[in-house]
Amino acid sequence: MTTSSVKAPTDARNLGSHNSHVTSGDRARLLGHRPATVWLTGLSGSGKSTLAYALEKQLVNDGHLAYVLDGDNIRHGLSKDIGFSPEYRHENIRRIAEVAKLFNDAGVLVIAAFISPYHRDRAMAREIVGTERFLEVHLNANIAVCESRDPKGLYKKAREGLINDFTGVSAPYEVPENPELHIDSGNLSIAESVAHIMNRLAPYLHAAA
Ligand code: ADX
Repeated sequence: MTTSSVKAPTDARNLGSHNSHVTSGDRARLLGHRPATVWLTGLSGSGKSTLAYALEKQLVNDGHLAYVLDGDNIRHGLSKDIGFSPEYRHENIRRIAEVAKLFNDAGVLVIAAFISPYHRDRAMAREIVGTERFLEVHLNANIAVCESRDPKGLYKKAREGLINDFTGVSAPYEVPENPELHIDSGNLSIAESVAHIMNRLAPYLHAAA
């Protein structure tokens, strides 16, 4: 696929739609929870992936079907054809949000771990997924902490000018104004962070219809 296909939308007038005979209530009874999307946003190195996979493990250990959509992984596949300009990040987040919506429709708890640096893109994701099942979680480790961790050596490369549009160095990160949850990922342990999110997820996990 080339990026030109992004600019050639399907004419919705030529499409129908089909309805399932299975309701969201049927799926909730089958799985024992109501679906939600936990949307982790924060700088590269803020701990999104580590926290996402720890949360997924906790949920599955507790008997819930959960699945991580992770920035690095998605960019090896679904979004391998796009880069990091504001327009491409917008398209990346649109795709992820549509995938999260499908997973939620299937009953799965989604944990999305993406820098998602722009307000408008996070607002779009919330709208696509549905605000009643969208939990925006800001991992607020600051740039100094993230850069000192630099787990993939990307800040160093960005400072050397080897990576363009790098968030926090040569591209902005717009701090969320009203997320459902702040995680102080510069200081909290993974277990503490997981516990905070599990707390916010409780209403979904204990209401199966
Ligand atoms: S997003 O901005 O579109 O949400 P996403 O989370 O998918 O970003 O991808 C971020 C990952 O891509 C980072 O963790 C990092 O490993 C890698 N990456 C490569 N180039 C960049 C860049 N210019 N800015 C940020 N991350 C980059």
